[in-house]
Amino acid sequence: MNTTNLQDIKARYNIVGRDEKLNAALDTAIQVARTDLSVLIQGESGVGKEIIPRIIHDSSLRKTKRYIAINCGSIPEGTIDSELFGHEKGSYTGAIDEREGYFGAADGGTLFMDEVGELPMTTQARLLRVLETGEYLRVGSDEPRRTNVRIVAATNVDIPNAIREGKFREDLYYRLCTINIQVPPLRERGMDSILLFKLFAMTTAQKYHIPEPIRLSPEGERTVMGYKWPGNVRQLKNLVEQMSILEQGVQVTPEVLHRYGIIEGQGESFAISRIYNKVNKDNEEHRDWATEIKWLASAVMKLRTEVDELKKHITLEQENRQTMPLQLEDQSTIMVPMDSNPLITTATPSSVHQPSSTSIYTAPNNMNLQSYDDIEEVNEEENLNLEEMEKRNIIRALQSSHNRRKVAAQMLGISERTLYRKIKDYGIEE
Ligand SMILES: Nc1ncnc2c1ncn2[C@@H]1O[C@H](COP(=O)(O)OP(=O)(O)O)[C@@H](O)[C@H]1O
Ligand SMILES: [Mg+2]
Repeated sequence: MNTTNLQDIKARYNIVGRDEKLNAALDTAIQVARTDLSVLIQGESGVGKEIIPRIIHDSSLRKTKRYIAINCGSIPEGTIDSELFGHEKGSYTGAIDEREGYFGAADGGTLFMDEVGELPMTTQARLLRVLETGEYLRVGSDEPRRTNVRIVAATNVDIPNAIREGKFREDLYYRLCTINIQVPPLRERGMDSILLFKLFAMTTAQKYHIPEPIRLSPEGERTVMGYKWPGNVRQLKNLVEQMSILEQGVQVTPEVLHRYGIIEGQGESFAISRIYNKVNKDNEEHRDWATEIKWLASAVMKLRTEVDELKKHITLEQENRQTMPLQLEDQSTIMVPMDSNPLITTATPSSVHQPSSTSIYTAPNNMNLQSYDDIEEVNEEENLNLEEMEKRNIIRALQSSHNRRKVAAQMLGISERTLYRKIKDYGIEE
């Protein structure tokens, strides 16, 4: 693709970065858009995978048809087949109505399956069938239905490894990754972290009416570039939002960054993996010791994965308790713009019920959100951060207005009544 096209795409989707590998990923997305080939997007968590399927859909001949984004990791195993493929009335207890399912609903369009590595094996078999034949069965029906859906999938798990562990079907993997797009980790993108820092400092300042965006000192830039960013762009975005609220007007030096745990050369996500790699390189004499350590290292890694899964499971349980199941018929549940940055997609049954209107952080008017019929997946952590920031912002506004609620509400851009409710909800003492 020529540079102008790439620039257009970046401007349209608010993508910041000049890294060659990122450019190559975007380039491939554009090139394959007009085909119907399945695409698998791979990359660590937080690298920015979710915008790619949107670009593919918008640049394809399917753009006038539906784009549906689902998060396979957040749909309970018991209902995933019915959500994806639909069900007949009375097919199981509680199935009072028939349901079309995403494969039926996205006919002619694009289905983005995020966290595809989380699909249960039985669902993987159904998915393979629909990919190969274009046919699927609703739960409780033996009458095949046809659909013409383009699949774009994403994952942050190492699928070849999942195949070895018997958790992912090899045939499905090859079917899905006809086109493979790799989104590089932030630590490999050179200056991009600095550019992204500036972007987030600017958008956060706009969002929270901060007079001047925070900025990095030259030494601060070195720290940001030298840090490993295990949570990638998502982590950087959260950090900049936090610092913008707490460090207003401050030039961000390595000392400031240090207080937030950002230290040059640190941030290795798997500290243990370094030992593992080192041990791998060890020479013959240390073989026994090495084997022992390797075993320990892999046990710790496994434990870590299990803890992560458990955390995810608990979050899911909590979300499921708080939310109603996604109703496909209600289009608005899949299409709610939320963030100032359209790089946010993924409809999950849980996220669609996030009460976005209750947040006092509204998107700046100059960002064109109307064209993005997406919603943001707000994970628990981001939510907590936002709440904390919201609370601090309210306190700050109250302090600087000498507790005059009317003035504070104006500063925050919310009604006095909302401010009153928030003060109560957060238990803020004036
Ligand atoms: N190149 C980029 N420019 C601007 N924002 C980005 C970029 N890459 C990622 N982001 C932002 O970082 C966050 C995480 O991206 P996301 O696509 O959700 O990551 P994941 O790879 O985990 O799906 C989102 O808020 C997204 O808008
Ligand atoms: Mg994601």
